[in-house]
Amino acid sequence: MTQIDIHKGAEAESPYVPKMARILSAEQMTETERFFRIEMEEAPLAYQPGQFVGVTVFGVGEAPISICSSPTQGDAFELTVRSVGLVTNKLKEFGEGDRLGIRGPFGNTFPYEEMKGKDVLFVAGGLGLAPTRSLIRYVLDNRGDYHKVTILVGARDPSLLLFRDELEAWTGRDDVETLVTVDRPDKAWSGNVGVITRLFAKIQLDAAATYAVIVGPPVMFKFTVLEALAEGVPENRIICSLERHMKCGVGKCGHCQIRGVYVCREGPVFTYEQVKRLREGI
Ligand SMILES: Cc1cc2nc3c(=O)[nH]c(=O)nc-3n(C[C@H](O)[C@H](O)[C@H](O)COP(=O)(O)OP(=O)(O)OC[C@H]3O[C@@H](n4cnc5c(N)ncnc54)[C@H](O)[C@@H]3O)c2cc1C
Ligand code: FES
Repeated sequence: MTQIDIHKGAEAESPYVPKMARILSAEQMTETERFFRIEMEEAPLAYQPGQFVGVTVFGVGEAPISICSSPTQGDAFELTVRSVGLVTNKLKEFGEGDRLGIRGPFGNTFPYEEMKGKDVLFVAGGLGLAPTRSLIRYVLDNRGDYHKVTILVGARDPSLLLFRDELEAWTGRDDVETLVTVDRPDKAWSGNVGVITRLFAKIQLDAAATYAVIVGPPVMFKFTVLEALAEGVPENRIICSLERHMKCGVGKCGHCQIRGVYVCREGPVFTYEQVKRLREGI
């Protein structure tokens, strides 16, 4: 008599069970940030810009990491990981051919459909360029669907700039305006110097027609949002991506909750209008 393993099918579909993936290539981008190109072993990951995955290093643990590639780039996907603790430090030792567990993709997406036909202003500080890059690449691969595209990128110093080759390529395009700044230049730096908000004085903004996608550390986010609001960008067109402590990623454990909102499921992408309500409880 044929035995049916009732657990096998259930496990395969469980959002808690990681699926196996293999690293196609890995590159140390800065002292602390490592870039990975990854392929799922069974079926390609079906994701959209703005989503994240749970990355398992077996025997160590799991960390939520934003997908930094665009689905327009093919079946493999990309992650940029900053080493800060157990899982992310272990990933520093991982390279081509190594295997990981992947859960997800989780979370909502950047409103890339709603943004069609509008101006898009990207403002990315530090590691914030990783999740933002997913949407930048998507918009550039569908360039005809969007109106004016402006990319502002900031880092504390030149050694911390991520995706330098791509920044150069974007700067060279005549259908995108890209400005990069650093707080502390080194001797070789000949570009903009100063905090990212200073770049607003160098661009022309049609605020009423603009979606501003702002992702970066809390201080940068705060002052950039103030600048965008002062320019007249509506609160519901300022888009951000929130990071919270997360465990399940599927709205069950409550670790990511703010005032009853599950950031893992209803976010991580929110408008500033929504973020304000979450903070103020209105
Ligand atoms: C939706 C989402 C997307 C993310 N995307 C990226 C990404 O693209 N690249 C990247 O490098 N990191 C990203 N992070 C942050 C990343 O998940 C944490 O740095 C990681 O979980 C740390 O795990 P660890 O085991 O290495 O550190 P641990 O040993 O668990 O902790 C090390 C330190 O990091 C703190 N920490 C752990 N998790 C978080 C968190 N979620 N937010 C803030 N502090 C935390 C701990 O409190 C502790 O101080 C993202 C987080 C979320 C929620
Ligand atoms: S991480 Fe478990 S509910 Fe969001």
